[in-house]
Amino acid sequence: MPYPLSHIAVFASGTGTTLQTLIDQQTQCGYRIALVVTNRPCPSLQRAEQADIPTLLSTDWTDIDHALQQHHIQLVVLAGFLAIIPEWICTKWDKRIINIHPSLLPKHGGKGMYGIHVQEAVLAAGDTVAGCTVHYVSAAIDGGSIIAQAQVEVLPNDTPESLSARVQQQEKRLLPRTIAEIIQNS
Ligand code: GRF
Repeated sequence: MPYPLSHIAVFASGTGTTLQTLIDQQTQCGYRIALVVTNRPCPSLQRAEQADIPTLLSTDWTDIDHALQQHHIQLVVLAGFLAIIPEWICTKWDKRIINIHPSLLPKHGGKGMYGIHVQEAVLAAGDTVAGCTVHYVSAAIDGGSIIAQAQVEVLPNDTPESLSARVQQQEKRLLPRTIAEIIQNS
């Protein structure tokens, strides 16, 4: 391994609460966030800057690919990144890009399934169990192979918001732990 801590990049477009969890746990989980990529101005950018992490705000995938190489990135983590990853990036970085999705894939994945829409779909389907999935990213949206999942019980009075809050708690436990395992096994 070229560095004592594996270099990862986090791609985030939103509030960045997942990014913050990854920042807070970086040393104990054996990785260093060497780059944060966003495709629009968002709080994730400020969180990265506050933690002195280099940032790139871009929608140009050639530039993004170049930055990943420049920063010697070994693993890319999508944490609320609201953009489709082009096929050539999926191929070039095969098995080196992971995503966290707030459902038990293959249920409730694919186009339009993001944010609160996912837990709305869980409740509409009458599921008794919800959860989150860490998976490799492929050209098929939410279709790459599954690495790890965590389950959450659906309660009788759940709203999409209450269920989403419990799923997000699990996401923030599952994601850093899964990154640590991937790094240990690489
Ligand atoms: C997470 O809940 C995750 O499921 C999804 O995007 C959300 C990120 O939210 N991929 P935040 O911007 O980290 O708060």
